[in-house]
Order: sequence, then C-alpha cells, then structure tokens
Amino acid sequence: MKTPVILKTIEELKEWRRGINAPLGFVPTMGALHAGHLSLLKASMAQNPHTLLSIFVNPTQFGANEDFGKYPRTLQADIALAQGVDAIFAPESKEMYKSDDEITLNPPKLMGYVYEGAIRKGHFDGVLQVVLKLFNLTSPTRAYFGQKDAQQLLLVQKMVKDFFLPLEIVPCPIIRDDDGLALSSRNIYLSKEERQIALKIPQTLQKIARLINEGEREVGKLYEFGMRELEGMNVDYLAFCNHTLEPLEQIIPTQTLILLTCKVGNTRLLDNLWI
Ligand code: PAF
Repeated sequence: MKTPVILKTIEELKEWRRGINAPLGFVPTMGALHAGHLSLLKASMAQNPHTLLSIFVNPTQFGANEDFGKYPRTLQADIALAQGVDAIFAPESKEMYKSDDEITLNPPKLMGYVYEGAIRKGHFDGVLQVVLKLFNLTSPTRAYFGQKDAQQLLLVQKMVKDFFLPLEIVPCPIIRDDDGLALSSRNIYLSKEERQIALKIPQTLQKIARLINEGEREVGKLYEFGMRELEGMNVDYLAFCNHTLEPLEQIIPTQTLILLTCKVGNTRLLDNLWI
C-alpha cells in the first residue's frame, strides 16, 4: 500500500504534478474523512493509475454565521485513512488565496440561487471559485464528487461544461450509515437524541420512493405526504426537481431529484434521492 506524499504548497504540488504522466483522478474534500470520501477515493483508484486527494477547509464557501471556525480539522487521521492515494494536497489558506480582492465566480441564475444557494448566500460562489482553482492547479483527468451534495455536483458539472474544462466529473452514490443516515462530516455535531430525530430524513425519502415505485407521479401529493411525515422537524426544503433544478409537477423517472434538507438542533443535514 502506497503512503501518500503530503504537499503543502502550490510549488510542491506543481512539481509533483509534473512527474505524473498517466491519468490522474482527483478527489477534492474539506477533510474529516469518512466512508463517503473513502468511496470517492476507491472509485478514483479503480479508474486511474494515480489519485490525488485535496484537503482544504475553504473559507470562501462559509457564510459569516456558519461553522468555518469549528469545522472538524483532522489532518493526521485523514492521512492515515487515505493510504493508497499517491498524494494529498493540504494547503493553508494563504496558498490558495493570494489577495483579499480576487475575481469571483457567480453560479448560473437558475441553478445557483435556489435551495442551498438561497439559504447559504454566496456559498456556491466560494465552492466554484475553489474548485476551479483546484482543477487548474491539479489538471486532473477525472474528478470525483458525491451525489449527497447534489446541487454542488450539478453546478460543478455545469462549470466544466460552460468553461470547456478538460476533465470528466464522476458522480458517486451517497454512502449511508447502518441506520440510513447519509454520511457527512457534520454528523459529529449531532447528539444521540438529535441523531435519532435525524433518521426521519432518510426514512421519509424512502417512503416517498416507495410511493413512486407503486406508481404515484403527482408531486403535490408526494410533497404533502412527505411534509406530514416530517411533522415537527425543522424542514428547510423538500423539493422535487429535474437535473437542472427546475421544479416538477409530475415525477419523470430517471430525471427526478428529490432534495430534503432539515435543521436538527444547530446542524443542517442534506439528503436526496436520484430517481
Ligand atoms: O464538498 C466539499 O467538501 C467542498 O464543497 C469542496 C468540493 C471540497 C470544495 O471546497
């Protein structure tokens, strides 16, 4: 098993990259690795002779009142979990942002300012900014993103298409704990009681999926059913949309995304189903 090379600076990354002459898989993360991230690394290692992981808690994608300060930073544990990858790029903020007045990216109007984009103002500007920087620095053949952050995945795919970026985005399925909760680095914020409450999220999505499998197509009915199931929960949104995030009135099999985001205690939890 390979032990990853740790790259802290852009110069080190560039030098390492110059030595790679075969396809490179890239897994961008903010660290606090869990089995979801490991599944992205596994997919990359299966499809590419080389894999690069980045670990960077990106300040520009956090709002002023969000958890940037307390976001888990567990670099040593992450390095231990990432055995088998060729290299880990783990820069400090000052490496990635050279000035306080940089060019920023606006996400597209229709996809960028709904759901997460409406609630977390400026979030996707920061995500696209850092992902574009990382793509430019690493020149990957393929980059791996989890379907759990569905809107992020769709926006990154759109950025690659709109800017003709020469790489392939590989979507990877959501990984769940045994109790059904989608894995997220933020799950560690949940108390035992909150975790029990949070299980309503995947359970509701499963019940909605069952109704769809049984033939229900009317979004109005599915929405009402879902909201009844979620009674007492702090729901940010339950949305039925297509893959460009336009709301649907009828379920279109293979083209529907059901997004569910709730706040449990102080923790926002995202989950979704790709139908
Ligand atoms: O999904 C994440 O962990 C982050 O948003 C990403 C893509 C690494 C950009 O900071």
